[in-house]
Amino acid sequence: MNSHQASNWSDLAKEFTWKTDFKSELSGGFEKGDITWFKEGSLNICENLLDRNIEAGLGEKTAFFWEPNELNNSLKKSFSYNEVLTEVSKFSNALKESGIKKGDVIAIYMPMVPEAVFASLACSRIGAVHTIVFGGFSKEALRSRLIDSKTKLIVTAKTCYRGNKTIDLLGVAQEASKDLDHLSHLVFVDNSDTSANEQSGLNQISYTDFVKGMPTTFEPVYVEAEHPLFILYTSGSTGKPKGLVHTTGGYMVWSAFTFKEVFQFQDDDVFWCTADIGWITGHSYFLYGPFLNGATQVMFEGVPTYPNPDRFWKVIEKYKVSHFYTAPTAIRSLQCLGDDWVLNSDLSSLKVLGSVGEPINLEAWQWYNDIVGKKECEIVDTWWQTETGGVMISNIPGKTQAKPCLATKPLSGINPALLDQNANVVHDNNQEGILCISKPWPGIARTILNDHNRYLETYMKPFPGYYYTGDGAKRDDDGDYRIIGRIDDVVNVSGHRIGTAEVEDVINKSGLVIESAVVGIPDETTGQALLAFGIVSSTDSSEVLENKVNEAIKEKIGSFSKVKKFVIVKDLPKTRSGKIMRRLLRKVATKDENLGDTSTLLNPDCILEIKKSLY
Ligand code: PRX
Repeated sequence: MNSHQASNWSDLAKEFTWKTDFKSELSGGFEKGDITWFKEGSLNICENLLDRNIEAGLGEKTAFFWEPNELNNSLKKSFSYNEVLTEVSKFSNALKESGIKKGDVIAIYMPMVPEAVFASLACSRIGAVHTIVFGGFSKEALRSRLIDSKTKLIVTAKTCYRGNKTIDLLGVAQEASKDLDHLSHLVFVDNSDTSANEQSGLNQISYTDFVKGMPTTFEPVYVEAEHPLFILYTSGSTGKPKGLVHTTGGYMVWSAFTFKEVFQFQDDDVFWCTADIGWITGHSYFLYGPFLNGATQVMFEGVPTYPNPDRFWKVIEKYKVSHFYTAPTAIRSLQCLGDDWVLNSDLSSLKVLGSVGEPINLEAWQWYNDIVGKKECEIVDTWWQTETGGVMISNIPGKTQAKPCLATKPLSGINPALLDQNANVVHDNNQEGILCISKPWPGIARTILNDHNRYLETYMKPFPGYYYTGDGAKRDDDGDYRIIGRIDDVVNVSGHRIGTAEVEDVINKSGLVIESAVVGIPDETTGQALLAFGIVSSTDSSEVLENKVNEAIKEKIGSFSKVKKFVIVKDLPKTRSGKIMRRLLRKVATKDENLGDTSTLLNPDCILEIKKSLY
């Protein structure tokens, strides 16, 4: 993929293999949410990612190295592009034999193991739609996703290894899959010695048996450019997660182009994105963008601090990683553990260091730059979202200037605008505005599964003519953007996107509170943390309630959504119409005396009470 300026998306798209040529670039728009790219074109993304690269001579090139959770320096498990194609083809044949057809949904609930790559890419090879669910999600969270997407087949693993912990992933998947009419098959990677219970009503089979004897070739199934490629659930302002739908042609062009452009990746480089495939970063900058460009990558199953806090740095040294892409929360947590862990590793292969998922603070940026990058690497601060499919705003190594803590310039073809609450464009520099995008780009999610209206309401209607991001930003005198953070009820904890409404929903239904409100507050390590306020009727202490609330959250969503603190209050600040004013709770929690406009506050006395409960 050329890294030239994307003045013309068609030119970029034509670098790929199309079964049928597309007739137009963009049609439809934000207003109706009928955005269509590359109309009448048909293609297979898996063919573009594997066969096309193999035909170009990359068959023997390493597609990825797999670094398992257990440190094992003698193990160098790697897969060439040819080998990946063979494995993907076997899985594709097995899916077909199981009756899976174009358009069917397959859930992937897996750790970072090679089979997760093969299974996901097999979906795209046969025109099925994958929905990858992060392995940290609980049984109930998984089940709600299986139901919403009417999943036909689920792929999982017996065990998820995380540092010195093991998680019974198969057990969770089995529980979540019980008695669902649409779900007929469960395939599991047999990666531990524990025995696998049979699951009645489901065709349960090990991955090895599933692919046994399957042919090693599979003709790609061609799909129209707007055929759904995957559904990825993310949090929003209400309790129900949104199943964002990304489609094939536009997403392919966008993930491939942004990877090449932002990382300025060269053929012999080695890319390592630490994100789990359960998040959009793992989709765009592990599963798709890099492979579309014929890159060699590292796939990592472990955690940054196991068996020692130098794990990341030792992996970089082992595989001579040139491009490293991680989240500020990981950088901050490793920074706390001291420089020696970094300095004792050979990181001379590094060229570009990426940051994603949340604003990076200055201390972390400097440490990343000085200690990890030895002031010789470019740092790219990449702003984007699950909805955008790929990077939207970032500096570009060798082309545009990096600035600490600023995502800087939009990518070519991306037109951001800062608006005020009344939809007026904020023309002045250094003023905060609501970040919107004024023209569709190929990678934008096309809808929310089963709820196109919610898609329109959430993204297109707040500011007609624009895509609404939910982030606040400022532009400096050089035209560089600083992302300030979410202005809606979405919180970023350790780079995990969490809807406060979703957490409140769990707390309210737990029977422990009469009413609750959850807000995000700054946290030195995790970026933001969740603070819960609850009106309670029991005599339990706040510590006891905090534990009980967190147990409920663990069961309904997953441990990564736990609250840092639970505060018992007598009343919550409300408007006359009964809406909780979370903005005020945030201000009080951060000791911000400037409460802003409180004229709509019905019960001002409660603010003093809440302050007393907090400090
Ligand atoms: O608030 C922004 C923040 O992460 C949000 C998107 O989260 P998610 O959909 O989970 O995708 C994360 C990975 C792309 C955004 O609305 N965010 C993402 N990147 C940055 C960021 N905030 C500041 N700087 C960034 N580089």
